[in-house]
Amino acid sequence: MDLSFKEVVLKTFAEKFGEGSNEGVKCYFAPGRVNLIGEHTDYNGGHVFPCALTIGSFAAARKRSDRKLRFYSVNLDKSGVIETSLDDFKPLKEDSWISYPKGVMWAFEKRGFSMDTGLDIVIYGNIPNGSGLSSSASIEVLTGFILRDLYGFDVSGVDLAVIGQDAENNYCGMNCGIMDQFASAMGKEDNAIFLDCATLKYEYAPVVLNGMKLVVTNTNKKHKLVGSAYNDRRNECEKAREILAGVAGIRELGELSNEDFEKYKDAIKDPVVLKRAKHAVYENNRTLVAVEALKNGDIEEFGKLMNASHVSLRDDFEVTCEELDILAEEAWKIPGVLGSRMTGGGFGGCTVSIVKDEAIPEFKKQVGEAYKAKVGYDCTFYEVSIGDGPSVI
Ligand code: GLA
Repeated sequence: MDLSFKEVVLKTFAEKFGEGSNEGVKCYFAPGRVNLIGEHTDYNGGHVFPCALTIGSFAAARKRSDRKLRFYSVNLDKSGVIETSLDDFKPLKEDSWISYPKGVMWAFEKRGFSMDTGLDIVIYGNIPNGSGLSSSASIEVLTGFILRDLYGFDVSGVDLAVIGQDAENNYCGMNCGIMDQFASAMGKEDNAIFLDCATLKYEYAPVVLNGMKLVVTNTNKKHKLVGSAYNDRRNECEKAREILAGVAGIRELGELSNEDFEKYKDAIKDPVVLKRAKHAVYENNRTLVAVEALKNGDIEEFGKLMNASHVSLRDDFEVTCEELDILAEEAWKIPGVLGSRMTGGGFGGCTVSIVKDEAIPEFKKQVGEAYKAKVGYDCTFYEVSIGDGPSVI
């Protein structure tokens, strides 16, 4: 845990909200996530396999005695202190980043959990902005965790994920699935979470990488999910689901085996919709096989499935981009790279790779140079660790 972040939020709290004393202020952390496999399967009732990171969002917070809500972000210091109140939960365009914490308060309120007084809160994150490592989900889970702690709301970790997703879908206007909030709320050190998004049943699987590391590589191309092709993909999957519900009797694409998909797929006449559905079904089944491989200690097989996932996201789901493809394809050329794929929503953001320790310098050199030569600017490498869910720090 990086204590300096705690120091920063406390110092900032004293400056912005302390009014002479930081008495009663508490500090919190909630992680970002990286998904190992199972991409664009969550909203199709399929499986995902993400893990929480040790980077995320930090906060210092204290209840007030009136109904004011005051927010300050160290990262977005230009926005200054933003003030609103418990009596004003209408989503506003000018809300900017505070729609994430406010959305969570709104989602609690909707469930009958009323905050009796307002709150002052300082947030500081170390997830690179726009990297697709779920900084927004980490802020949502962080807020939910703070409310549970300060107001005594009786909600579980899974509830925190569901509430965060509700805020993101219905307050912030981004129609995401459950994966990011679940990974942040339910993270466990050195484990990935095998989650069935149709039922929210989950299981932890230890990620044992003897002599290897998880390396996240940032394209440094900002991805913007709101208003992007993400919702188009959801709509295309929904069309496929409706057609296959008619002929195969399924409720969700995630229920289909690859064989059943091949049997019924001709009912889908639109070639684009067909490709999207193929990805959703195959990726889900690939995730089941990958988790088995990991449980059996077969990282080689897991890595191959990661590569296959990228190819499917590139060719059938079409959510990669030139930058992500260069990173993955350059990584595949390097001996010592077991697997590499885009992670998260796509259209920018990061890849995740499993790399043997001794190959990491070569990986960074070759991928870094090839990327710069083709794209014109640098990518950034992070050797990441798998961390726990939210905590008081
Ligand atoms: C984004 C969404 C998630 C999930 C991924 C793709 O990260 O927030 O719900 O759909 O994209 O797997």
